[in-house]
Amino acid sequence: MPETNKSPVSTERRDAIAVIRIDNPPVNPLGLAVREGLVREFATASADAGIKAIVLTGTGKAFSAGADITEFSTGRHAPFLFDVINTAIEGATKPVVAAINGLALGGGFELALGCHYRVASSAVKQLGLPEVKIGIIPGAGGTQRLPRLIGVEAALDIIVSGAPIDAAKALALGAVDTVVEGDVVTAAVAFANDLIARGQGPRRTCDRVVDVSALPPDLFDKKRASLARHPSGPLAARACVDAVEASTKLSFADGMKRERELIQECLPSPYAKALQYAFFAERQAGSIPGIGSTTKIRDVITVGVLGAGTMGTGISLAFLQGGFPVTIVEMKQDALDKGMARIRETIDSNVKRGRITPEQGAAIAANVTPSLDMASFATADLVIEAVFESMAIKKEVFGKLDQICKPGAILASNTSTLDVDEIAAATKRPQDVLGLHFFSPANIMRLLEIVRGKATADDALATAMSLSKRIGKVGAVSGVCFGFIGNRMLENYGEEVQAMLLEGATPADVDKALEGWGWAMGPLAVMDLVGIDVGWRIRKEHKFSDERMRLYRVTDAIADQGRYGQKTGAGYYKYVDRKRVEDPAVTAMFRAEAAKQGIEPRNGIPAEEIVERTLLRLINSGAEILDEGIALRSSDIDTVYINGYGFQAWRGGPMWQADAMGLVKVAERIKFYEKKYGERWRIAPLIEKLAASDGTFAALDKAKAKAAA
Ligand code: NAI
Repeated sequence: MPETNKSPVSTERRDAIAVIRIDNPPVNPLGLAVREGLVREFATASADAGIKAIVLTGTGKAFSAGADITEFSTGRHAPFLFDVINTAIEGATKPVVAAINGLALGGGFELALGCHYRVASSAVKQLGLPEVKIGIIPGAGGTQRLPRLIGVEAALDIIVSGAPIDAAKALALGAVDTVVEGDVVTAAVAFANDLIARGQGPRRTCDRVVDVSALPPDLFDKKRASLARHPSGPLAARACVDAVEASTKLSFADGMKRERELIQECLPSPYAKALQYAFFAERQAGSIPGIGSTTKIRDVITVGVLGAGTMGTGISLAFLQGGFPVTIVEMKQDALDKGMARIRETIDSNVKRGRITPEQGAAIAANVTPSLDMASFATADLVIEAVFESMAIKKEVFGKLDQICKPGAILASNTSTLDVDEIAAATKRPQDVLGLHFFSPANIMRLLEIVRGKATADDALATAMSLSKRIGKVGAVSGVCFGFIGNRMLENYGEEVQAMLLEGATPADVDKALEGWGWAMGPLAVMDLVGIDVGWRIRKEHKFSDERMRLYRVTDAIADQGRYGQKTGAGYYKYVDRKRVEDPAVTAMFRAEAAKQGIEPRNGIPAEEIVERTLLRLINSGAEILDEGIALRSSDIDTVYINGYGFQAWRGGPMWQADAMGLVKVAERIKFYEKKYGERWRIAPLIEKLAASDGTFAALDKAKAKAAA
């Protein structure tokens, strides 16, 4: 038989024990061939009179990572996992022991729960049911078996959060029978032999009764009430609660039926589709055409950061937490001391909150070296500049870095708007220069825009990509333009918000509409948080269209008054006990300016229009960015928005929304607004092209990938 036709499930006999093994690299997903293999091997073992017990395990690092997600789109065929588990595994008449050798997630964990006994390796870090994170619920009995095994409240937490637990926690909760050091299969075989010796048969979780005696009566209602802003969107987390509740009210068989109904509701929902798309988009962002596994990654062991302000300290923390030694250089002692104090405070607070151990905290703190001398960067493999946003200053420091840094060191700028090519030209090694655009707070926000200059070498870019992973960030490549992918689009979104404020929407109307639709935070609350002065300064330095300057007139007047937002106690809102409160004075300023500009006041703007106009502006600008080659793929744009701008993953991202709406409709609506508002709504040629050819952004991405391959 050719190697490719080999079944991913096989049996090895150890005396009276059949060891059934899944071998489906890399993480033993439970695709059709595995499910068929499980049915076959369990049937054979069950029929073999010489076999007294069965051990089920996985090959490599995983027991099983669960369903094969690609089957969600290609279609699934029988035998289905829930059936395999119910009938072949839990229904087996010989005792079945799971030997959990590595991660068991989703369907993989459900498979383990279907076994009669569980032995786990102490090295296992991830056991759990993360289905909610892709917009669905566990669908192979997880919601019915876990409450029977570990109690309703613990099961509810695990299923609704989707967060994994480690082997020790699983043992404490009763999800596994024992945790062992060393070879888990050997231990499970011994466990099985012991069962045989003691005459113990199958112990089926489905036969257990859910203990409801001590449940708070409002447990489920309270949980449902806490889900308003769950990252899975409006459906999946609620369905998880409903399914677990069913386990307390229905028989096992009826509970399984209810679980199926609920997953069938979730699967076709736009939220599940968006979450699954976002999951793949994020992985896709890491692949860059022309850069493959043969591209050399430069060694990066030590990191230098220039500037100990807001971003410099955050960036230092991100690398320190990633295990890198960091040298941080400032101009003045005072600024350096303040930056170092901020770094220490964050480390201390992480220790206090139990995120890291005191020993880890001490090791991280010992890894940072403060300095006032850029010569300290002489041995650094990577230097990231985070000084003031001024081209003159950036050019000066890059000139100096060029003199100081060793050959091959990567020189990066954290600029949020400036031309990386111009910065690179201040050095004699533009091939080593790129942008690393972090988001504030840089130690927390996941997005890292990696800005590829004209001259940036492939290996420098590949190194930056690999570094983003090493510090737990999602890297997305952007070409050079004002604001790169994220901020350039945001400028258009923000401009439309200003227009609506002049037309009669209040800041609260806008924020409520957009937060209600799914944004983590409304745009005006965001500006109050970041500081209205940031954009105000940029508008003073850069040349924008007259229209944009006109639309921002009130906002700039607010900043002129020193109302920068939360940091000054007032901005678009007033802040009372850190809570935002509407300010009639701000509304009055917009009304007065509107009258001056001859804008007819409307009696508020409906939420749907607020959502549509902001979304369409993002889409239109995203299409331009894609057409210009600033973004490699539309899915990269969505990854940027989800990880850096608070666009909820269950909404898929602006470009995904465009495809969902249909490009014909998108084009029609943009043209509608173009007629009404003119220039700022000029439709992107790519949208017209796609609309005319029945295209989608997703299809365009695919075609480009094919052409590059
Ligand atoms: P900041 O004003 O908090 O910090 C800048 C620091 O650089 C100051 O401590 C200053 O003393 C120091 N500095 C200035 N010139 C220096 C020199 N020649 N040598 C050594 N140190 C020097 O500014 P922030 O907000 O940290 O911004 C830094 C850069 O990051 C800017 O380019 C900004 O556009 C960019 N950025 C800012 C974001 C934000 O949310 N604040 C987000 C993303 C990028």
